[in-house]
Amino acid sequence: MKVLTTIADFRRAHATLGSASLGFVPTMGFLHDGHLEMIGRARAENDGVAVSIFVNPLQFAPTDDLEAYPRDFERDRSLLEQAGCDLLFHPDVVEIYPDGADLDVTVVPNRIASILEGASRPVHFTGVATVVAKLFNIVQAERAYFGQKDGQQVAVIKRMVRDLDIPVEIVVVPTIREDDGLAMSSRNSYLNAEQRAAAPVVFRALSSASDLFAAGGRHADSLRETMRGVLEAEPLANVDYVSIADNETLEEIIGIIDRDAMASLAVQIGPARLIDNLVLAAHRQPGL
Ligand code: PAJ
Repeated sequence: MKVLTTIADFRRAHATLGSASLGFVPTMGFLHDGHLEMIGRARAENDGVAVSIFVNPLQFAPTDDLEAYPRDFERDRSLLEQAGCDLLFHPDVVEIYPDGADLDVTVVPNRIASILEGASRPVHFTGVATVVAKLFNIVQAERAYFGQKDGQQVAVIKRMVRDLDIPVEIVVVPTIREDDGLAMSSRNSYLNAEQRAAAPVVFRALSSASDLFAAGGRHADSLRETMRGVLEAEPLANVDYVSIADNETLEEIIGIIDRDAMASLAVQIGPARLIDNLVLAAHRQPGL
């Protein structure tokens, strides 16, 4: 595995790799099994694999956890070596943002970024879309891998690729969970034992909605109420939102669910803001 810290070195290494197709997994590091699952998929589906580790300041608000965000480069590097990564791109902030925060051109997702996560984190998806567009231009992969765990991020990136004609195929990888259902996340390391014990309420709430849906429940309001009820029974969980939305536009569904939907939610548990989602596929027959 080659570790590259500059854009020029990455481009040279890509050119000499000589692989017919490259799969790319962008990350912010502190890798867990969710990241490794994506790298395994990229390995299986491409001749070469590139991973980036870059904690992107542009997607953090001043009040967010940029400084506290967990990092362990040496551990990440050896995990990636074992996982069969060919090119690891690990730039510093100045390499990606030579003019600091003073960018004159950014990629601004509109409607799709103003709701759900975007409502409480207004600059977040501009930061994500801008850095992912830059990484796509640097890495020049045939396929890029994103986790369903960050469902709105998937929707924003798919829309960006479509609206800007970026020549990359987006592959979505299912959410990898702990045994008790908690979605793996680098931010889970913020939880103390008591908060960690409360955290599976997130998956229980989503499961309550998907169970109701599987049993034929099609009223978006009932599904939202069910999720809220489960969350509110956990005193450590502070609900930000619960949502049943169109799986592509993420517009909230009013009334009957008649298309693929995403059940999603965000809660604050102690220092961690936890997000998670489940896709409700409309074509599945109730009860099957
Ligand atoms: P990060 O949080 O490190 O996540 C990198 C990728 O791993 C994302 O596509 C995310 O959805 C996926 N992922 C995280 N937890 C997962 C899980 N439990 N199961 C499956 N996939 C999971 O997301 C980012 O970084 C950044 O926003 C980034 C796209 C790198 C842009 O800065």
